[in-house]
Amino acid sequence: MRVVVAGGHGKIALLLERLLAGRGDQAVGLVRNPAHVADVRKTGAEAVVCDLEAASAGDVAVLLAGADAVVFAAGAGPGSGAPRKDSVDRGASVLMAEAAGRAGVRRFVQISSMGAGQPPRPGTDEVWAAYITAKSAAEDDLRARDLDWTIVRPGGLTDAPATGGIRLAAPPVPRGTVPRADVAAVIAALLDQPGTGHKTLELTSGDSPVAAAVHGIS
Ligand SMILES: NC(=O)c1ccc[n+]([C@@H]2O[C@H](COP(=O)([O-])OP(=O)(O)OC[C@H]3O[C@@H](n4cnc5c(N)ncnc54)[C@H](OP(=O)(O)O)[C@@H]3O)[C@@H](O)[C@H]2O)c1
Repeated sequence: MRVVVAGGHGKIALLLERLLAGRGDQAVGLVRNPAHVADVRKTGAEAVVCDLEAASAGDVAVLLAGADAVVFAAGAGPGSGAPRKDSVDRGASVLMAEAAGRAGVRRFVQISSMGAGQPPRPGTDEVWAAYITAKSAAEDDLRARDLDWTIVRPGGLTDAPATGGIRLAAPPVPRGTVPRADVAAVIAALLDQPGTGHKTLELTSGDSPVAAAVHGIS
């Protein structure tokens, strides 16, 4: 399987690329910073320089030719303000989904966030509100498209080692945290599992082995 990962130098993305390469899939990480190419290659993936806030859908569709799936793992990240929540967390996801449609790549897994799907609470910090608004808009855009999409909303991300134990279900899942390594394993499993399209899923640490949890929701 050839899988293009948007935001290919992100923490989850690098873990996912290593998992995909390790099981014999071709992973391709899209990075905006040429200095990140070497790190992506070290995982066993290919790296392509593409700034998702500058590229057109036509540009990205060319990069998706021959791919079997797209994973949206980009994000403006901590320290960014409201405008980049919109241009990356919403805009880059919309761009990737549009490009996937044009390139005929039907499978699309989007990393969203717990909290998306509802308006931010009144009085919420402005940047958090912009983030949740952007993630919700990216989800809505994807659900409206004729793609085999799966939306994964992790809880708070940690850099702890993988536990292999998760809770993955349709919303609402109680708030919690989850290691990025377990998120990467869930995405790799979702890519492998037909029947997980058209689902919005929330993800925290829990008691179910990844394979069983993914099998259980398909
Ligand atoms: N933090 C949490 O607790 C939490 C919880 C739930 C969901 N999430 C979401 O989970 C996802 C992945 O998280 P993570 O921690 O793995 O993310 P991360 O390490 O912050 O990685 C995000 C990646 O997106 C890239 N990116 C930003 N702008 C880009 C652009 N214009 N073109 C191409 N790439 C661009 C960044 O590249 P640069 O290094 O060049 O900036 C970075 O490599 C994000 O969408 C995040 O919002 C986070």
